[in-house]
Amino acid sequence: MIFENYPIQNTFGFRVKAARYVDYASEQELLDCLERGEVTEPLLHVGAGSNLLFTGDYRGTILHCSIGGIAVERETDTAVQVAVGAGVVWDEFVSHCVARGWYGAENLTLIPGEVGAAAVQNIGAYGAEVKDLIHSVDTIDLKGQRRTYLRKECQYAYRDSLFKRPEMKTTFLTRVHIILSKVRGFNLGYGAIMQQLGITEEEQRAAKTASPSEAYPGLTLAEVRSAIMAIRQSKLPDPKELGNAGSFFKNPVVMREQFLGIQQQYPLMPFYEVDADHVKIPAGWLIEQCGWKGRALGPAAVHSKQALVLVNLGGAVGADIVALSEAVRHDVMERFGVEIEPEVNLIEN
Ligand code: EPU
Repeated sequence: MIFENYPIQNTFGFRVKAARYVDYASEQELLDCLERGEVTEPLLHVGAGSNLLFTGDYRGTILHCSIGGIAVERETDTAVQVAVGAGVVWDEFVSHCVARGWYGAENLTLIPGEVGAAAVQNIGAYGAEVKDLIHSVDTIDLKGQRRTYLRKECQYAYRDSLFKRPEMKTTFLTRVHIILSKVRGFNLGYGAIMQQLGITEEEQRAAKTASPSEAYPGLTLAEVRSAIMAIRQSKLPDPKELGNAGSFFKNPVVMREQFLGIQQQYPLMPFYEVDADHVKIPAGWLIEQCGWKGRALGPAAVHSKQALVLVNLGGAVGADIVALSEAVRHDVMERFGVEIEPEVNLIEN
């Protein structure tokens, strides 16, 4: 389906339009659109717009995939592989997995967006990343050529993949093949999950000596999903109430030497080990230390419960969020000498 001057869905709540908007509900529909020359550059393929920052109307063609369906394509006693349409809402997919007793996606509960974008962006939360579940992705490019990329070809890294490279802008993900486990086993190590589930230290000790499938007797996938929901809802604003795109910045990875220098001054700074030479520092902590948490600049603000999130207080445009993000980056650089980079994709015409 083709629309002219069409409003672009985005979770910042901006009123922005695309000169042309092409929505396709099947591979064949996309191929037909390509054959008729309806998809031309400049173009931008979007998902639900939950990680995009538009600075104005888009003068080219916006493409959106509405391919649905979650189909089992292989199954053993211990695992299941499903083919998922790129237009399936990510959290509906998680719900589908949890309802069937398939393990692996539950820590990624409530992440906004659609399955195609999840595979492009390598979404992650609470110690899990979607790349670890992906078997392969099916694509169609601007010339109408189909190609399947195996996980190892996707160059997955922290919030990054091959599909984010400029030269891949004209390669569109249509379906993602995902493998889930049918063997009971949870990933509860991150932050507040245990606390949220009310798991005691004694239960944690017992779990260490049990086999993964017997750890935390009685605990269910649905309970883990609910706990993650509760943690997210306590920190992250609902875009329906307060426009935002989740984490605005990536957590910076710095050289160990620089990390040790900062740590000397701030012994309580949280951090994650990366490798022998690198350490990751939570950008939210750096921003909070700079006094930005809860602070506004015009109609844009740093969220009061999670400093990594920039919000539209009402009536903000892209430039307001950009101005705030630049001010925040500047202060973090000045105070810590650390460069923080946006995680959100800035779309300029
Ligand atoms: N922190 C602060 N102040 C803040 C925010 C965080 O001091 O305002 C500290 C926390 O106390 C904690 C540490 O920073 O010690 C980490 O905070 P949190 O667990 O909330 O996670 P995060 O590193 O800020 C990342 C992801 C989130 C994901 C959470 C949970 C990135 C860019 N963000 O945030 O992902 O939900 O971990 O796993 O990696 C997203 O990508 O949109 C997103 C929300």
